[in-house]
Amino acid sequence: MNVHTADAATVEEGLAIQEAQAVLDSESATAVAMQDTLLTPRFYTTDFDELDAIDVTPVRKDWDQLIEEMKADPNKGHFKKDENWDHVDWDGMDPELRKEFIDFLISSCTAEFSGCVLYKEMKRRGKNQDITELFQLMARDEARHAGFINDALREAGIAVNLGFLTQKKKYTHFRPKFIYYATYLSEKIGYARYITIYRHLEAHPDKRFHPIFKWFREWCNDEFRHGEAFALLMKTDPKLTSGINVWWIKFFLTAVYATMYVRDHQRPAFHKALDVDTDWYGQEVFRKTSELSKQVFPITLDIDHPRWMKGLKALQVASVQVDRAKKAGGVGGKLSQWVGSARAAWAFAMLFTIPAKKHQVPVKTRLEPVY
Ligand SMILES: [Fe+2]
Ligand SMILES: [Fe+2]
Repeated sequence: MNVHTADAATVEEGLAIQEAQAVLDSESATAVAMQDTLLTPRFYTTDFDELDAIDVTPVRKDWDQLIEEMKADPNKGHFKKDENWDHVDWDGMDPELRKEFIDFLISSCTAEFSGCVLYKEMKRRGKNQDITELFQLMARDEARHAGFINDALREAGIAVNLGFLTQKKKYTHFRPKFIYYATYLSEKIGYARYITIYRHLEAHPDKRFHPIFKWFREWCNDEFRHGEAFALLMKTDPKLTSGINVWWIKFFLTAVYATMYVRDHQRPAFHKALDVDTDWYGQEVFRKTSELSKQVFPITLDIDHPRWMKGLKALQVASVQVDRAKKAGGVGGKLSQWVGSARAAWAFAMLFTIPAKKHQVPVKTRLEPVY
């Protein structure tokens, strides 16, 4: 058996290695990962038989090429601390930054692992060879990603107990089409987030306060490939991206972008340390994600519309109110929580009703990571 998740050739091997390390895992980090709110990463389950019934014949050529690329495994061995991993002074780190950065790592680890669990389950339940092969390869990557973040957390004396999460975290059921929209977007936005930070730190290396950011380029290429796979899956059935489903696409685009905006604004010290303006970062990531999603979605959100930023800011203020009210408790807290939730719903409606931009989806789906 390999000794590190980065060298694991399969998801099973990667998870076994992490299981063996679980003795070191801390309760508090796992408790954070267990949280299920509108903003925290969730675990998903779906109708696996319906997913298994997909026929990839209409996209066969692109499909085989993508699978070959993934099988070649360009990132095998990459997600491992090596001589480029600088010493991290956790004790000397500003306490606010330390708190937010740990929260960032835990939430990223949970999101990576959420993909791993879903993909692994699909591989286990499926009979369709195209589908099980793809999901096995993607689960392999996500297990490595989650394992690597746990390596970073372990240096701070904490780690997320992934075995415990698999068994105890609540699973949200989504119909396969919602899994496609949500997962496609989370893969592509993941790519856009990682590459935007990577390029920013390439230009400003003095702001790189932790070595994990050096790994982001190869990392985001994995996410890019996963997104490509979901784009091809959606291309097999034109119904998925037309008619009423265009409204669902708009809903998921709005929800995914808005969640990212609110989440990132909860970490001011983290973004200050990176010297990244959170509003700029959000818009930059939305722009890249929108550009990419044109490969399969017939609409993109109008993120330059005057109501866009206003709506996001209103949503963020409302989410702060809800958070404070929850902590305050009592009748006053409950009341304030309701008002906050109503404000959040109104802000979301403000965003959702911005007219979308329509465009033609290209015949050729496949893209390359160019950012
Ligand atoms: Fe990942
Ligand atoms: Fe991924």
